[in-house]
Formats: sequence, C-alpha cells, structure tokens
Amino acid sequence: MTVLIATEKPFAAAAVNGMKEIAQKAGHEVRLLEKYTSPEKLVKAVEDVDALIVRSDKVTPEVIDAARNLKIVVRAGAGYDNICLEACTARGIVVMNTPGQNSNAVAELAIAMMIFMSRNKFTPGTGSEIQGKKLGIQAYGNVGRLVAGKAKCLGMEVMAFDPYVSADKMKEDGVTPAESLEQMYRECNFISLHIPATPETRKSIGYDLITLMPAGGCLLNTARKEIINEAELEKALTDRPDLKYITDIAADSQAELDEKFGKRVFATPKKMGAETAEANINAGLAAASQIVDFFATGNTRFQVNKK
Ligand code: 3PG
Repeated sequence: MTVLIATEKPFAAAAVNGMKEIAQKAGHEVRLLEKYTSPEKLVKAVEDVDALIVRSDKVTPEVIDAARNLKIVVRAGAGYDNICLEACTARGIVVMNTPGQNSNAVAELAIAMMIFMSRNKFTPGTGSEIQGKKLGIQAYGNVGRLVAGKAKCLGMEVMAFDPYVSADKMKEDGVTPAESLEQMYRECNFISLHIPATPETRKSIGYDLITLMPAGGCLLNTARKEIINEAELEKALTDRPDLKYITDIAADSQAELDEKFGKRVFATPKKMGAETAEANINAGLAAASQIVDFFATGNTRFQVNKK
C-alpha cells in the first residue's frame, strides 16, 4: 500500500523517520508532502495513495474525490474538524485520530499562557502569580485533565465543567465539578477552553459567558478559533477593560484585536500547542502504527466515523 504523509506544518524529522520505519517495515511505500503552498498540491498528491496521514490539513470533498484508492485517513492529533467525514463515510473511507498523543504538549502551553499573561506578556511592570488563583477547565478530556493536574501542582484551585464526565471522576482528581458553565465563568480567574469545534460548539463562547468572569479574568484558547464568537469577544473586551484573551489559534479579526486591546490579548503566530518533538513523535508514530494495524488486521479502534 502507499501511505502519504501530508503536512503543511511538518512533523519533527525524528517523527517522520519513525513513521517511515514503521510503515516500510510492514511493506508499505511512504511518500511525503510537506509545507505545500496550495490545496491543489494535496489534491494532486493523493491521486493514487491508499492511506493518508495529516495534521490540521484540510481534507475536503475535493481531496476525497481525487483520492481514488484511499481507504484510510489518520489525523495525527486530536481534533478532526479539518476532515470532511461525510465525504469519507460516503466512500467507505475509515477516518481515525490519535487521541491523547499530543495532549501533554498542549497542556504545557496552556500553563505557559497563564503565566505569560499574568506577567504582562513579559514586559516591564508588576504582574501577578497564578498560585492561589482559580482555574476553570471547559471540557475535562485528555488535555483538560493534564492542565488540571499541572495547575494543581502550581498551587491553583481547579474547577471543571464537562457534561460527559462524572462529578466523581473530577473529585477523584481533586477538581471541583462546576454545577454550570455560568458558575465556572463567574468564579474562575482563568478559563481554559478544551472543547472541540462541532456544530454545537461553534461560536458558543460569547459575551454573556466571558463577561461573567471576575475582575482581571483571562480566557485561554488552545482549542479552536471557531468556538469563539469573535464579535462578542471584541465587545466583551471593550466593555470590560480588565479582561484578557490569549489564543493559540489567531482569530480572523486578530489584527483588530491586537490593535484595539494591546497587552490584553495575544495570539501565537502559528498554532504551536502540539509543536514539540515529543508530541510529533507520539502522534506521528501512533498514526503510522494505526495504519499498519488497519491493513494487517482490520483494527478500527480509533475510527471516528463509525456508523
Ligand atoms: C490537535 O487537534 O491535535 C491539535 O490542535 C494539534 O494540531 P496540529 O497537529 O495542527 O498542530
């Protein structure tokens, strides 16, 4: 079989080498398309491949149409909102992710973001400490749980809201389950977002929630830009000059936000949550192994488009 690793934002070399080794050992051919500059390049590259590994690369209906032999797509990472599941499912193409493999890197970035904003983006002036502050975690999944554990080690009080996780599980971890999202926003100095981008969550973080935060509150986004209602975020930051916003996925209106709110906002130049050698290796090798296993045994454990 032919496996294409298509990454506009390439994996670390060690990850690519390991992925090649895993696939080639199992008798597969590996091709690499990195830093491609237009979607057409991906459409062309998938024409005769059997398996595709991507990161946040957009796997559109055009890509699927062009990929006549495609049997499996693995998103080396957690969120698969970049893949058109309908087009894949209609063609019987299996789509998988590699849950948990890059979570620690994202969680470490969330902690770094809290400190960065508390210290005035490392510019002169008096900052504040995160010890003793309250952190609210929106969605207690792989990343949320890791952020909670690290924040507790740093002396923070941690609360979480997740309708899919039991209160007992949170309590076992020493995390206070929020009775409602509103309660969490009202009580927490920091809110860290870990929800996926789905039709239900798109633009779900808006003015009413953000402005519930206490004085000096800071919203952290290492999830997806689509979950933010940007117009309402701008209004919240305008009406509440004490609030802050830091994101790993620049808003469409980031230039305006930067200009209008200066030190109170920050966006990384390119999504860097999973940009560690460790995360690349974990997610990349998992993706390659899942493909090898799928072709060898039919294992679909991590399939996200099961009927
Ligand atoms: C994920 O969903 O796994 C993260 O957002 C990382 O995305 P990336 O592989 O594009 O860095």
